[in-house]
Amino acid sequence: MSFDSHTKPSFRNMDILISNWSSVRSLPESYIFPAERRPGTHNIPASKDIPIIDLARINGHGRYQVIQQIIEACQDFGLFQVINHGVSRELMDQTMALFKQFFASPAPFKARFYSNDLNASCRLYTSTLNYENEEVHYWRDNLTHRCRPLEDHINHWPDDPPHYRKVVAEYSIEVGKFLSTILELICDGLGLESQYFEGEISKNQLVSVNHHIPCPDPSLTIGMQAHCDPNLISMLQQGDVCGLQALKDGQWIGVEPLPNAFVVIPGLQLRVISNGKLASAVHRVVTDSKESRTTIGSFLVPSNNVLIRPADCLIGSSGMLYRGYTYQEFFDTFTSNNCEAETALECFKV
Ligand code: OGA
Ligand code: NI
Repeated sequence: MSFDSHTKPSFRNMDILISNWSSVRSLPESYIFPAERRPGTHNIPASKDIPIIDLARINGHGRYQVIQQIIEACQDFGLFQVINHGVSRELMDQTMALFKQFFASPAPFKARFYSNDLNASCRLYTSTLNYENEEVHYWRDNLTHRCRPLEDHINHWPDDPPHYRKVVAEYSIEVGKFLSTILELICDGLGLESQYFEGEISKNQLVSVNHHIPCPDPSLTIGMQAHCDPNLISMLQQGDVCGLQALKDGQWIGVEPLPNAFVVIPGLQLRVISNGKLASAVHRVVTDSKESRTTIGSFLVPSNNVLIRPADCLIGSSGMLYRGYTYQEFFDTFTSNNCEAETALECFKV
C-alpha cells in the first residue's frame, strides 16, 4: 500500500482513505501513536450519568425544567443527550444508510469528492486536513457537507443514489431547526436577550460524517484525538457502535449510543459567550476492532467576521474572562495551536 501524498485528487491519494482498504490485518505504522498519546483503557463502559433530556416537555409547564436541565448538563458535563428531538427516526435512519453507502462506494466515485479545501461545499478526506504534515494519522475518514445557503452547496454533494441530495438536505434542515431550539433554550437559561444566537453567529452549518473501519488494534491508535469543538454548538447522531468518550473530572466516560437520541456538545464559543459558565466537553473517539462506525455530526459555525465576546449580562463581579475577537481570529489561533482548546483560549483571556 502506498501512502504517497499528492495535493491534487488522484487515484493514488485515494489509497489513503481507510474506507478504501478491503482488509487490514495489522495496524500500519503511521497510525501507531506514541505511548503517551494512546487511548489507554479504550473499552470504557457507557456512563449512566450523562443527562438524557426529553424535549417533548418543552411545550408547557416542563419548559422551565428542561432549560434548567440543559444548563446544568452544560455546566457539569459539557454535553448531554436529547430524546424526542423532533427529527423522525425514518429520516435519521435513511440519512445514516446513505452515508454508510457512500463510504462503501467504489474508490473512483469517492475520488470526485476528495479535497483539503476548508471551504469546499463537500470534502472527503482522511485523518485530518493536515494529513501530509502530521506525524501520526487518525483512524478515520470524514465527509463534510456545507449546508447554508443550501442552494450554493447542494449541487456539489454526492448525487448517487439519486435521492442522496434531497434526503441529506432535509436532514440538514431538520437538525438545523433542532439546534436552533437548543440554542433558544440555552439563551433563555442564560438570561440573554432573545435571538442572541440568530444571524451571523450561527450562519454556517456543516454536516460532517465520520467513518471508521474495524481497527486491528484499538489500543494503539485513535479515531479522533481528545478535543473541544471550536464552533458554536455541535450535535451527533451516533449510530449504534460505541466509541465516543468525554472527559469528566479527569476520567474518560463512555457516551452511550442511543438509537433515538442526539448528543449535544456546546462549542468553545458558548463557553466564551457564557463567560465560562457553560463548559464544552473534551471528547475523543476510540476505534472498534470488530465493527465499522459511522456518526453524523452537525455543527453551527459563526461567520468569520462576527465579533464574539462574553455577553454583557454574564459579566458579573469577577469581570470579563475573555476579550472579544472575530471568529476568524479564534479559528486561526485554534488551528495554529494544534487545535488545543486551552492553549487557544489562553490567548483570549483577560
Ligand atoms: C467531531 C466529533 C465524534 C464522533 O466530529 O468533532 O467529536 O463520535 N465526533 O464522531
Ligand atoms: Ni468533536
